[in-house]
Amino acid sequence: MLERLTPQAPDALLALIKLHAADPRTDKIDLGVGVYRTGQGDTPVFAAVKKAEQILVDQQDSKSYLGPEGDMGFVNALMPHIFGSDATMGGRITGMQTPGGTGAVRLAVALAPKAGVKQLHLGKPSWPNHAQILNDISLDVVWFNHAREDGTADLDAVLEAIRSAGSDAAVLLHGACHNPTGIDYTPEQWNAIADAFAESGAFPIIDLAYQGLGHGMEEDAYGLRRILAAVPEAFIAYSCDKNFGVYRDRVGAFYAMTREPEDLDTVFSNANALARAAWSMPPDHGGAAARIILRDPALTELWLDELTQMRQRMRQVRERLGQAGMAGSVDLAPLAHQNGLFSMLPVTPEQVKQLREEYAIYMAGSGRINIAGLTMGNIDKFIGAVAAVTG
Ligand code: LMR
Repeated sequence: MLERLTPQAPDALLALIKLHAADPRTDKIDLGVGVYRTGQGDTPVFAAVKKAEQILVDQQDSKSYLGPEGDMGFVNALMPHIFGSDATMGGRITGMQTPGGTGAVRLAVALAPKAGVKQLHLGKPSWPNHAQILNDISLDVVWFNHAREDGTADLDAVLEAIRSAGSDAAVLLHGACHNPTGIDYTPEQWNAIADAFAESGAFPIIDLAYQGLGHGMEEDAYGLRRILAAVPEAFIAYSCDKNFGVYRDRVGAFYAMTREPEDLDTVFSNANALARAAWSMPPDHGGAAARIILRDPALTELWLDELTQMRQRMRQVRERLGQAGMAGSVDLAPLAHQNGLFSMLPVTPEQVKQLREEYAIYMAGSGRINIAGLTMGNIDKFIGAVAAVTG
C-alpha cells in the first residue's frame, strides 16, 4: 500500500539549512531560513529567556497536561502587547496557545471555512507555507499583487482585493515585517486598508509573526489594531518564535475577535476541537518561559531591550545595503525602507544558484534574503557577488 505514495519534494527553505550546513567553505553566508543572527553570526538564546527558563526549572512542579488551549497565562499576558491597553476590545478577544505561528495560521484558516468563508485572498508573494497550508485544507486561494517592482506596496491592488472579496471571503494580511518582501504599509495605508475591510465585510486574518522586528512593538501593531477597531470580527495568528528567539520551542497563539463577547465560547469550542484533532496540546516550555517574562516587569524590560538591539542591527544592515544602491542590475536602495528579517532581490533562480555555487551565498530560490545573515564583515562580499552575478 505504501508504495502508492508519490515522493514529495522537501520544503525548499528547510532543505537550504542542510545544504548550507554541509558546505565546507568558511566564508559561506546563510541568508536562508528566517532566524535572527547577531553581528557575529550567532543566534543566541535571549538573556531574558535564559533567566525565565531558570525560574521555570526551579519552580515548575508538574508537567501534567494543560489542555488544547495550552498556557492561558501566556496567552493573556501577551495580549496587551498585541492589542494595546483595551486588550480584549471589551471582552470580544481571547485566544489559545498554538505550536508556533504555523499552528496559529493553520487554526485560523481551518476554522474560517466552518464559519462560512469560501475563499481566501492572499497577496503574492507570501510566506510559502501559507499556500501549502491552504492547499492542505483545500481552501480556494485568490491571489492578488501587493508589491510594486520598485519595492514599495501596491496599495491600490490591496484595496481592490479587499473590496472585491465580499463577505464570504477572508483576506490574509501580514501585520508587520512582510515575509518575504519586507514591504509594510504606512499608518495612512493601514487606515485605508481598515476602511476597505469595514466597507467590504471581508473577514480579516492577520498573521503577526515578527512584531517588534520592524519599528517597535507598538508601531508594528498599528495595522492590526486599526483593522480591529474598524471591523466586527477577525482572526489573528501570532508567533513568538522570532521576537523571543524561541524558534524550535514553537511558541504561538491564535486569537479571535467576535461581534459579541458571548460568541467567543463557541468559536473556541471549535478551535479547541481542531487543535485536539491536530496536535492535542501545544508544547509548553517556550510559552511558559514567555509567560514568566511577560509577568515580570524587569524581565519584560530586558526582553524588550534585546528586541531593540536586534531591530537596530537589522536597520543598520538595511541602511548599508541602501547606501550601496545599484549592485549590477539589482537596486538595493529600496531595502533601506523595508522592514524585518526579509527582502526580495530581483534575481533569477539561475543567479541564486550561481551565488550559492560560486560565492557560497545561500538564499531562497525566490530571491528572498534574510537580512540578519549579513554582518559588517560579510556585507561587502555579498554586494560584490550580487553585482558580479547580475552585472
Ligand atoms: C521563514 O520564512 O524563514 C520562517 O518563517 C521559518 C519557516 O518556518 O518558514
